[in-house]
Amino acid sequence: MSGHGTPIPMRSAKCGPLTGQAKVPGDKSISHRALIFGALAVGETRITGLLEGEDVLDTAKALRAMGAEITRDADGRAWSVHGVGVGGLCEPDDVINCGNSGTGVRLLMGLVATYPFAVTFTGDASLRKRPMGRVSDPVALFGARAVGRSGGRLPLTLVGAEMPVPVDYVTPVPSAQVKSAVLLAGLNAPGKTIVREREATRDHTERMLAGFGAEITVEDTPEGRCITLTGQPELRPQAVAVPRDPSSAAFPVCAAILVPGSDITVPGVSQNPTRNGLFTTLVEMGADIVFDNPREEGGEPVADLRVRYSPDLKGVDVPPARAASMIDEYPVLSVVAANAAGTTTMRGVKELRVKESDRIDAMAVGLRACGVSVDEDHDTMIVHGLGQGNVPGGAVCASHLDHRIAMAFLVLGMSAQAPVHVDDGSPIATSFPDFEPLMAGLGALVTRESE
Ligand code: S3P
Repeated sequence: MSGHGTPIPMRSAKCGPLTGQAKVPGDKSISHRALIFGALAVGETRITGLLEGEDVLDTAKALRAMGAEITRDADGRAWSVHGVGVGGLCEPDDVINCGNSGTGVRLLMGLVATYPFAVTFTGDASLRKRPMGRVSDPVALFGARAVGRSGGRLPLTLVGAEMPVPVDYVTPVPSAQVKSAVLLAGLNAPGKTIVREREATRDHTERMLAGFGAEITVEDTPEGRCITLTGQPELRPQAVAVPRDPSSAAFPVCAAILVPGSDITVPGVSQNPTRNGLFTTLVEMGADIVFDNPREEGGEPVADLRVRYSPDLKGVDVPPARAASMIDEYPVLSVVAANAAGTTTMRGVKELRVKESDRIDAMAVGLRACGVSVDEDHDTMIVHGLGQGNVPGGAVCASHLDHRIAMAFLVLGMSAQAPVHVDDGSPIATSFPDFEPLMAGLGALVTRESE
């Protein structure tokens, strides 16, 4: 688990063109959910393309502790989950440590909230700072009780409901984790659980629940999306093909846009409309991205991306309505914005303050140290672009136990005038374990300071 090991100082530097194929890892959101729904189906679920990052492996460990049998095939090509059925989980006999993963802990909190037992959750120093009230509040409506540290933070013990009742809940923040936690709790409650969200957030839980055979409907209403789930279904095991993660693809894609002469392909990247806001924004900025061979894989729309160096980027206003569809991509977008001509304004982004780090603050401090002017308020980040190749760089940037902050600054260093250093690249293993060899394979200069 990240945050428990030795920090890994890293740096990146200007390099020749990036070329070749970037096979980025499986989608993190879908990987967590594939394991969870597999653990609730009766029979064997087979998963290909699972992200083998620390976050997902921590979720697998938690599900094993509650009775699911989860194994990786000897040849490493697929994972197998033998589920226990909805209602069949057992009380874990030790603390569940979710490491760095907000998705892991919040989904699991929802999952166990309607079981008549207690689970204590903890995580690394980053996760222990993050708000959990957004899940313990709605699961209390089912009859669960949570006792955590001040501010509802981890470590936290959740005592599940003995006699759960279904709920009708409006999510107060645009969060797929909260929506999914409520739906997961609703799985083991009798009757219909309803979740309403004003802004659509990633919909993998809804898609996968339907695929596993649950009765679930999604309705677009004038007030937003309304999801209705009928509790206590018998979930049927599935063959899940996890598409490649658009949030991980973001790093080689943005690097190729910024490094002169680059021309790369990134195959099989999810183009789910609740996830593709970054690509829309990059194209608006003038990035040269072609979406080849659009198709459906594993119930998700995917495409092969061809990305070329894009010399004439311009700053844009990113509308708040797009925030949910690119929430994890703002750090690397701010790096592209630093290389654009003119100002890029990102509004409606306050959720970034409660991610693995305060991502507005982390990026603003590091970008300023690298010579880029940045303005911010609670809900907004404004980057004053210097034009392609004009970022001075040369600073040590802090990753704050946040994989996406570490990778964003390493992308900055690939196009900056002087190398960019990152104090600790170890969190990259949570979501993109092969980041270094993959980027090196394209021709990037990303190294550990010890090398
Ligand atoms: C995720 C939802 C998002 C995202 C996270 C993964 C998910 O968090 O930032 O990386 O898999 O549901 P929020 O739901 O808190 O916005």
